[in-house]
Amino acid sequence: MFLAGFVAAQQPSAASGRGGRPAVPPIDTAVADRGQLVYAARCASCHGADTRGTALGVDLVRASGVRLDPTGAQLGPFVASGHKNSSVPPIALTDAQVSDIAMYLRVRIDFATSGRGNVAPNIAVGNAKDGETYFNGAGKCNTCHSVKGDLKGVGSKYSATMLQNRIVLPRGRGPAAKGDPPEPARTVDIKLADGSMVSGTLVTVSDFLVTYRDSSGLLHTVTRNGDLPRVAIHDTLEAHIDSMRRMTTKQMQDLTAYLVTK
Ligand code: HEC
Ligand code: HEC
Repeated sequence: MFLAGFVAAQQPSAASGRGGRPAVPPIDTAVADRGQLVYAARCASCHGADTRGTALGVDLVRASGVRLDPTGAQLGPFVASGHKNSSVPPIALTDAQVSDIAMYLRVRIDFATSGRGNVAPNIAVGNAKDGETYFNGAGKCNTCHSVKGDLKGVGSKYSATMLQNRIVLPRGRGPAAKGDPPEPARTVDIKLADGSMVSGTLVTVSDFLVTYRDSSGLLHTVTRNGDLPRVAIHDTLEAHIDSMRRMTTKQMQDLTAYLVTK
């Protein structure tokens, strides 16, 4: 069904006389790495750090619509138009970002279908020493964490994959392992039209609606119209979300290699 919607939605652009399908370039891991960063920032919260889906978004490796679109020619219009599903907001990306993501998805599909995806990835491929340097230096991880304090034992608490997800995918990180603390909630303060302030735990937010749970557990939905009412979202994981956008694949792998030993 998604495939039908996805492909059908793209017919106009396919028919718009660009002279057939664009050539499919060979796999380029540098391009895929760039795509991974954009993907992590814009798609992973729903489709999962590893592209295999979460409760909020489908597995993109298994999606035939993705496989049939190796250059992302259809992907760009699809995400720009809000996925054809009104609950997924439109995502503005440049053409280069779209083709980078498409390359990243090809690498993920290749990984999964070659059988390499069936074995646990050797994710701790980084350099632990470089990870330590980054942790205490440019990464500024030590401003909030300590490997002797809150992160003590983190290497045995999680699999390497999970651990890496905790670093680069703090939100939408998928099913919690046993004994895993719940994802820290985002909170929201809303200034209503009459000037009164309400606040609570954020449940969902879109350009049109914001839903929160108040301290007594009741759900409320407020309609948004442009900047009104004023909505301020607070996220204790903001630093992670920011750093994940800056981090290179090597830094991410180095951090994982460092923290698995803790
Ligand atoms: C808010 C959650 C959310 C975000 C963010 C999101 N998606 Fe989705 N995506 C979904 C859901 C839910 C579906 C399935 C329903 C649909 O197609 O609308 C989906 C479907 C898709 C499909 C169709 C898969 C198929 O079955 O053919 C593609 C491709 C896709 N997403 C790519 C992306 C990309 C690329 C990004 C980032 C630029 C992204 N999505 C961001 C939730 C999301
Ligand atoms: C501004 C503060 C801040 C910074 C900077 C920060 N983190 Fe975090 N980190 C958090 C918060 C908040 C959590 C969530 C704790 C929870 O789940 O309750 C967290 C969780 C984690 C976890 C999961 C811990 C667990 O036991 O589940 C890991 C691993 C982690 N951070 C690593 C890092 C690394 C590596 C960096 C540097 C790139 C970093 N953090 C930078 C605030 C920060």
